[in-house]
Amino acid sequence: MRYSLLTIVLVSLSVQQVVAIPPLVKRQQIDDATVLNFALTLEHLENAFYQGALAKFDQKAFVAAGLPKYARGRFSQVAEHEKAHVKFLSDALGNKATQPCTYDFPYTDPKSFAALSQVLEGVGTSAYTGAAQLISNKDYLTAAASVLATEARHASWVASAVNGFAGWSGPFDVPLDLNQVYTLAAPFITSCPSSNPALPVKAFPSLTLSKSAPGSRSSVAHKAEATATHIVFFTGLDKIFVPITDGEVEVPKGLSGQVYALATSSGTEANDSTTVAGPTILSFEHDSNNNLIS
Ligand SMILES: *[C@@H]1O[C@H](CO)[C@@H](O)[C@H](O)[C@H]1NC(C)=O
Repeated sequence: MRYSLLTIVLVSLSVQQVVAIPPLVKRQQIDDATVLNFALTLEHLENAFYQGALAKFDQKAFVAAGLPKYARGRFSQVAEHEKAHVKFLSDALGNKATQPCTYDFPYTDPKSFAALSQVLEGVGTSAYTGAAQLISNKDYLTAAASVLATEARHASWVASAVNGFAGWSGPFDVPLDLNQVYTLAAPFITSCPSSNPALPVKAFPSLTLSKSAPGSRSSVAHKAEATATHIVFFTGLDKIFVPITDGEVEVPKGLSGQVYALATSSGTEANDSTTVAGPTILSFEHDSNNNLIS
């Protein structure tokens, strides 16, 4: 939790006496160029993701896979947007701009590509949402909000018009921090130019939950040395902490859309120092009557 000065003042005033002021949580000192380069790292990845799939699968392949006739043309538009994001951020960063890496995406056909597109656009939306607080320059913040809106539109369009699911997770999207996003992006990155600026991010060990059906007991697997005591489910702006017992966790009921699960060594705090493994992505798709379909 971050305490603003105003909260502290109000709390102090309301108790009418001087109480111990909660310690101010120090904001990570990250400059705007670093945040923009982190965003550019993701945009390069998305750009390569779409260019690669469009080069690999033609219109016939999309239709043969059962996707709507208009899908490929619209994916080409999405690809153009990602390319424009890369150019926009590269221009803003000038000679500090990070260069594209090589990538490996696990899609095998247009259908698995469309499924991964929905997930990646969702992660992009969570990345921009979480990074907003790190941006100092208001003009960059506005530009980032503008990109965020477009990533969210992509996520909605793929989810609903292509994959047949709801176009949203719920009233709120999940904000993720830089390391959490990098953990999700890293498995797709094969290698990067050594001249790229080093970013202050690290990937946490990967986390696997055997099942994601609401209410089911799911076994928790990770290769981290530290012991995880809880799985935290990130849904909208909420974090649901569930204890791990006998190596298993009970998946909460009522989750919706794109949810992230993180293994922590704390039952109350999900930050970078309490993270043991993850996040991993879970999807809870509902039909228009709110029945879970997958
Ligand atoms: C994370 O939470 C733990 C437990 O509350 C706290 O001790 C630690 O200072 C927090 N770390 C960061 C980086 O906020």
